[in-house]
Amino acid sequence: MRRARRSNGARVGCVGGPPPAGENGHVTEPPPPASRRALRAAVEKARPAPSAPRRAARRRGIVVLSATAAVLVWAVVAILFAVFAPGDTDRAGAPAADRAPAPWATALPVPTLQGATPPEPSAEAAEAAAPAPTDGICTEAALTAALAAGDDAAVIAAAGGAAAFRERVASGAAPCIDLADPERVWVVVNKQRPYAQLEYAPSALVAAGTVADAGHAILRTDAAAALAEMIAAARAAGAGEVGAQNGYRAYGTQRSIYAAQVAQRGAAGADLVSARPGFSEHQSGLAVDVVPCDPACGTLDDLAGTPADAWIREHAWEYGWIVRYEEGYTAITGYAHEPWHLRYIGADLARAYREGGFHSLEEFFELPPAPDYAD
Ligand code: DAL
Ligand code: ZN
Repeated sequence: MRRARRSNGARVGCVGGPPPAGENGHVTEPPPPASRRALRAAVEKARPAPSAPRRAARRRGIVVLSATAAVLVWAVVAILFAVFAPGDTDRAGAPAADRAPAPWATALPVPTLQGATPPEPSAEAAEAAAPAPTDGICTEAALTAALAAGDDAAVIAAAGGAAAFRERVASGAAPCIDLADPERVWVVVNKQRPYAQLEYAPSALVAAGTVADAGHAILRTDAAAALAEMIAAARAAGAGEVGAQNGYRAYGTQRSIYAAQVAQRGAAGADLVSARPGFSEHQSGLAVDVVPCDPACGTLDDLAGTPADAWIREHAWEYGWIVRYEEGYTAITGYAHEPWHLRYIGADLARAYREGGFHSLEEFFELPPAPDYAD
């Protein structure tokens, strides 16, 4: 080891030891351990101490590093919580809403990983996207398709069944269902609701099949088939033979009948038993007057009190027919009791009518009573 020599010639680091190697090339022995410690201490002592500003800077650096590390740890924990936190229930089965969130989870706003909340749509966009409240069930494709196809039963099914159909029509939730459309089984004709075309005539009319024709009974096809079924059932049930006295009546025929009634009873009397032309259900092909035919066909007035009359009141609805002008409902229907006048509304609506305890179509569809004509 070479020795440092100060400019003043004094030797450094040789304290109390044997003579070191000199500059004359002699190799000197290493100093003993005690001497090395003393040498290190001397060197440390000789090194200049850091200044106060440098110490302060070092402390600030340590503080900044510690704070940064703490924030990073916090953020990582928060993100892990957001990703792996249980949803509706935790693993113990307790609803998440019942658990108080950990303070650290709420103190730091945790960004959701499911994406940012979508912006609220503008009022104009929301209004354009939403169906008009007046459209109700008429926006449903199955219903509008059935309506366009003229399939009344499918329309009623698409509306949720006959009871729902009735309720929706009555409440205005089905504006596409026109109670004035004479092609539909749900048409309502009364003294306040004439045919839009006063001389309307249905297109599909047939004779009432195997039914005893006690007069001149032709009906719309669906009504004729249902009448044949009903009369066969009455016969099978022992209620006797029922005959159809008359069904469809043309505008001109109704005019003649009404005029005859006016001549016989006067206008007020005629209006209780006969509709004016353009106001009769018979003109739709969906109404029939039935008579008892045991052993021969009688008149309309012969029906009341017969087994056929009783059976019709209890069972006609099963075949889609209702007694349209019941006793006690003149103030609503505008007509005196006619136990013989049956109206076809289809099996679905007739069941809802029966099960709902209704006694007039005006009540069924929540229409105004029609005791009188408008003029
Ligand atoms: N007898 C019923 C009311 C009609 O004439 O239509
Ligand atoms: Zn009638």
